[in-house]
Amino acid sequence: MELGSFSTSITTTKNKNLDRSDEILEEIPHLLTAKCDVTALFTSSFDLPSIVGMLQDTLYTDDEGNALPMPGHTIEIKEESQYLEDGVKKEMTKPVLCSSFLLKLPWHTDAHVKEAISDTQLDEVKIHSLIPLTLEGGIAFGSMAEHPTTRLCLSFLHDLYLTKTKTSPQLILDYGAGSGILGLAACKLGAKQAIGVEMDLDAIQIANANAKRNSCNMLTYLPNMDSITNRPSDDGTNENSIEGEHKKEDRESLSVSMVGSVSRSKTFNVDEIPENLNTQIYDLCMANILPKALMTLAPIIARMVKPGKEIALSGIRDHQAQEIIDLYSEYFDDCKVNREEEGWVLISGIRKTDT
Ligand SMILES: C[S@@+](CC[C@H](N)C(=O)[O-])C[C@H]1O[C@@H](n2cnc3c(N)ncnc32)[C@H](O)[C@@H]1O
Repeated sequence: MELGSFSTSITTTKNKNLDRSDEILEEIPHLLTAKCDVTALFTSSFDLPSIVGMLQDTLYTDDEGNALPMPGHTIEIKEESQYLEDGVKKEMTKPVLCSSFLLKLPWHTDAHVKEAISDTQLDEVKIHSLIPLTLEGGIAFGSMAEHPTTRLCLSFLHDLYLTKTKTSPQLILDYGAGSGILGLAACKLGAKQAIGVEMDLDAIQIANANAKRNSCNMLTYLPNMDSITNRPSDDGTNENSIEGEHKKEDRESLSVSMVGSVSRSKTFNVDEIPENLNTQIYDLCMANILPKALMTLAPIIARMVKPGKEIALSGIRDHQAQEIIDLYSEYFDDCKVNREEEGWVLISGIRKTDT
C-alpha cells in the first residue's frame, strides 16, 4: 500500500477473517512470514513494471544489492466497468442521499434518482432542497459517501453551514481530497473556494474534473514535497519537529509514495500546491485520512489553518481518537470527538494563536 495501491488483499492458508484496516495492519508482519497471495489494485496512472521493480529492490535483494528470485506475479489491466462487474462494490452504483446531498455518478438517470429517493422517508420539502453533486469515476476514491467517515464529514459540513451559528468558512482545505467530495460539498454549501491536496494522481485529475462538472471553485494539487520530506530550516533546526523514531519512519514511507507521485506527475500535468496556497490562509481544513497519515500531517495541517479557525479530522476509529486528540492538541484548542458513526469518529478543533 505504501507504493500507492488503493486496495490490497492478502490471502493465507489460515483463512483468517480480518475486516478492519487496523486489524489487517497489525497482522501484516505475521502474514508475511506465512505463504500467502497478495493482490494489489492500482489506478491507471501507475507504471506497474516499475512497481514490480521497487518490490524487487525493497524485498528481494541481498546485502550486496544483488537481485534474489521473486515469487511469481501477474499484472492484469481492468476497466472500471469490469471492476464493478466483478461485484467489488456494485451496490454503490445507486445514487446516494447523504446529509443535504444527492450524490450521483455521471451515468445515473432521473429514474435512478427517483428510485433512490423512493427508498427513503424524505418529505417533498427535503427532496427539493437536496444539493446534487455528480462525481465522476470515483469508485476508487470514496465518491459516493459509502464510508461512515465521509458521511461524518458531510454531516459536519451540513451543520456548519446550515445552522449558521457562526461565520461560515470561506476558504477550505480538503487534505486527502480523493474525488474532491468534501471541498465540492463545502463550495455547494457556500464556501468561496476549496483547495484539495492529494497524493494520488488519478484522484487529482478526477477531483479537478468533478470541480468543473459541478461548477465549483476548487483545484486539487499534489502536496508540497519539502514539507513532507521534513526539510531542515535555514538555522538547521527541524521545521516540523515531530519527535520519535516511528514518526520518522512514517515520514519516510510517506515520502516514498510521494516521490513516486511527483516523478509521475510530469506526465500527468498535475502540479504541487503553489507556495501562496501552502500557507496559513484556510478557514477550515477537512482531512479524512488514516490515523498514521493524520499524525504525520499534524504540523503541516497546523501551518495551513488560520488561528481561531477549524479542523475536522476523520478516518479514525473510536479507540484511536485519544491519540489523535493528544497530538493535535499541541496546535488546536478544544480538540474533541465531534460526532461518531459505526465506531468511526470525527474530531474537531480550533487553531491556537500561539503555536
Ligand atoms: C479515505 S480517502 C478520503 C477521500 C475523500 N476526502 C472522502 O472524504 O471521502 C483518503 C485520501 O487521502 C489521500 N491521502 C492519503 N495520505 C495522503 C497524504 N499524506 N497527502 C495527501 N493525500 C493523502 C489518499 O490518496 C485518499 O485519496
